[in-house]
Amino acid sequence: MRKAKRRFKTQDRRDGMPLKARLRPWKHSVLAWATDGLLFAGLLWGSPLVEAAGTNASAPVSMSKAAGSSLVVSQEIARFFLASARAPKPWTNYVGDEACLPCHQDKVITYHQTAHYLASSWPTKDTVRGSFTSGSNVLQTGNTNLLFKLDATEKGFFQTAVETISSSEFTQHTERIDIVFGSGRKGQTFLFWLGDSLYELPVSYWVERGTWMNSPNLQLYPDGTANFTRAITPRCLECHVTSFAWLDPFAGPGSAGIRFSRYTNLVLGITCEKCHGPGRDHIARYRSSSPPISAAAAASAIINPARLPRDRQMDACSLCHAGAGIERSPALSFNVGDVLSNHLELQVPGPDAPVDVHGNQIQGLERSRCFQSSPTMTCLTCHDVHAPHRDLKAFAARCLTCHKVERCGEFRKLGHAIDTQCAVCHMPVQPTDTVQSVTKGERFQPKYCNHQIAIYRDVRLP
Ligand code: HEC
Ligand code: HEC
Ligand code: HEC
Ligand code: HEC
Ligand code: HEC
Ligand code: HEC
Ligand code: HEC
Repeated sequence: MRKAKRRFKTQDRRDGMPLKARLRPWKHSVLAWATDGLLFAGLLWGSPLVEAAGTNASAPVSMSKAAGSSLVVSQEIARFFLASARAPKPWTNYVGDEACLPCHQDKVITYHQTAHYLASSWPTKDTVRGSFTSGSNVLQTGNTNLLFKLDATEKGFFQTAVETISSSEFTQHTERIDIVFGSGRKGQTFLFWLGDSLYELPVSYWVERGTWMNSPNLQLYPDGTANFTRAITPRCLECHVTSFAWLDPFAGPGSAGIRFSRYTNLVLGITCEKCHGPGRDHIARYRSSSPPISAAAAASAIINPARLPRDRQMDACSLCHAGAGIERSPALSFNVGDVLSNHLELQVPGPDAPVDVHGNQIQGLERSRCFQSSPTMTCLTCHDVHAPHRDLKAFAARCLTCHKVERCGEFRKLGHAIDTQCAVCHMPVQPTDTVQSVTKGERFQPKYCNHQIAIYRDVRLP
């Protein structure tokens, strides 16, 4: 019991503490992690250059010492140049959503209800979806000696792993929920600061089930373990927050993760300027004594994606809706209007390989005959990103701008009952394979709308 109490206290002094000391009860995973350090750095960055360095780095193990050390030196040099190439992007001329409010009030209000705006947030009673009331704040795992507690106190929201060692002894490890990832439309996972690095917490929340579960990823969070060592990469942040500042452009292998600034430029949620670029000049122009008379791109001094060619419009969404990809430049260097392939190598599955429905809307849509046969179709054909919309009727109306309902083979059988239901059969909601949580033998796979518009013969109307 005394032991447990002492550990509890360390949590308040967490910043100065070395990673190893803080994670002592979870020695095994830390050790495994440290040994994997080099490989891990490769994964973390995912860039071809670093991956090459990562391969070299593991080579000395099987090579002679002399050959090994020269490889290590050249690897250090490569790392130095890589570090200088990864200078943080300056966050200037950005003004924040409140600055748009006076002139675009309707857009700002509805936008702030969307999953984009809520893609990440500070933890509050309203943003954290899971329950902290007794009876629903304990997560039992497949390991009878390990459970998680979820607590809300005046100091914040906490996750604690409690491991029973013997009938009188247990250890526990507590971390605070510092950042919420996920709007709560489908699910949420939680991050904590360790020094200036961010890590994912082992317990997540799934809305469809209405319960806490082990965080998804069966390799990192197998049932019955408590892993506090998964570092959040810059790429995770690029997709889920508006901006952040790097402290370590490149933090070598074995380090406790990339360091980010806790205070400078950390803008949670996806805000207007993530898609429209900096708004300062735009506002200055419309506030000046001679505001632009036309809203033409040059006059308005802001990016309107609708004015971009189709490929650049797709790129604006592909940054986040086509999977993690392989980074060719540091996270945050892509701006809407740029050619995405200069920054990111997207994974395009072969013609017969299945596309997972999670986070791969681009790959799905691009395989559809609708997309291939209509030169103007983009994500914006169906989505207005400025407001939440779930109404199937509105989506069907989009289909009917190009198709006649009578064209559908099911029309003969079902008649006008299908008028509003096109997406149910042609873009069915299906479970993902890439995101899975397993707790006490129960597997959960959230469901997403398949963006490959096609004929799915087994789907029926509910
Ligand atoms: C002082 C008033 C004002 C403010 C503040 C303002 N805008 Fe505008 N904005 C306008 C006007 C006027 C137009 C042109 C008419 C229209 O499209 O509504 C416009 C047009 C736009 C367009 C379309 C431009 C085009 O080329 O078609 C975008 C995008 C836009 N604003 C985004 C923003 C964002 C994002 C913010 C906040 C960072 C913002 N605006 C703040 C007045 C303002
Ligand atoms: C910076 C990354 C990013 C960009 C750029 C981005 N999205 Fe998203 N989008 C997300 C994330 C993350 C979510 C899911 C948030 C959640 O539910 O936790 C999301 C959710 C959505 C949703 C569900 C919205 C809702 O309120 O339920 C739609 C639709 C969508 N995106 C379409 C688009 C389109 C179209 C574009 C291009 C114009 C785009 N996104 C650009 C990251 C992005
Ligand atoms: C996920 C990307 C994304 C975000 C975030 C976003 N927009 Fe847009 N915006 C677009 C796209 C794409 C278009 C062009 C297609 C359209 O009109 O929907 C657009 C068009 C506009 C236009 C011009 C068209 C019109 O209807 O007047 C304005 C103004 C605008 N956005 C303002 C905003 C404001 C204000 C915010 C924040 C509250 C915001 N946008 C957030 C993607 C985004
Ligand atoms: C390539 C951009 C991208 C990266 C990188 C990324 N996400 Fe996401 N994330 C998304 C999108 C897009 C969605 C919405 C999923 C969908 O609708 O298919 C999402 C959804 C989520 C959700 C809500 C649950 C759900 O599936 O809707 C959580 C939680 C989440 N991501 C956590 C993370 C964490 C943790 C990381 C880093 C380890 C990460 N994401 C990396 C784009 C990204
Ligand atoms: C921008 C125009 C456009 C929109 C919007 C559109 N489609 Fe299509 N679609 C096409 C074209 C063009 C084809 C190929 C020629 C054809 O079959 O008419 C096609 C083909 C199809 C096919 C045949 C697919 C196959 O693999 O044989 C189906 C089914 C279909 N569309 C359903 C839909 C549904 C459902 C929606 C709405 C969710 C939709 N389409 C939206 C243009 C569009
Ligand atoms: C033909 C119409 C159509 C097009 C084009 C389209 N979507 Fe969707 N999208 C839908 C429908 C229908 C849904 C399901 C409705 C809902 O629950 O939000 C959906 C849902 C989503 C969601 C919410 C996640 C989910 O699966 O529930 C995201 C994210 C999304 N779309 C992103 C995109 C992106 C990115 C593009 C461009 C590659 C795109 N969509 C193009 C019709 C479309
Ligand atoms: C109950 C499920 C269901 C609904 C709802 C539905 N479809 Fe279909 N659709 C099908 C099936 C199944 C086929 C294939 C029919 C066949 O080939 O026998 C099909 C075929 C089609 C085709 C391809 C026809 C061809 O000859 O290539 C189009 C286009 C289409 N549907 C459009 C739509 C549109 C638009 C809507 C909404 C107004 C819609 N469908 C609603 C199940 C559905």
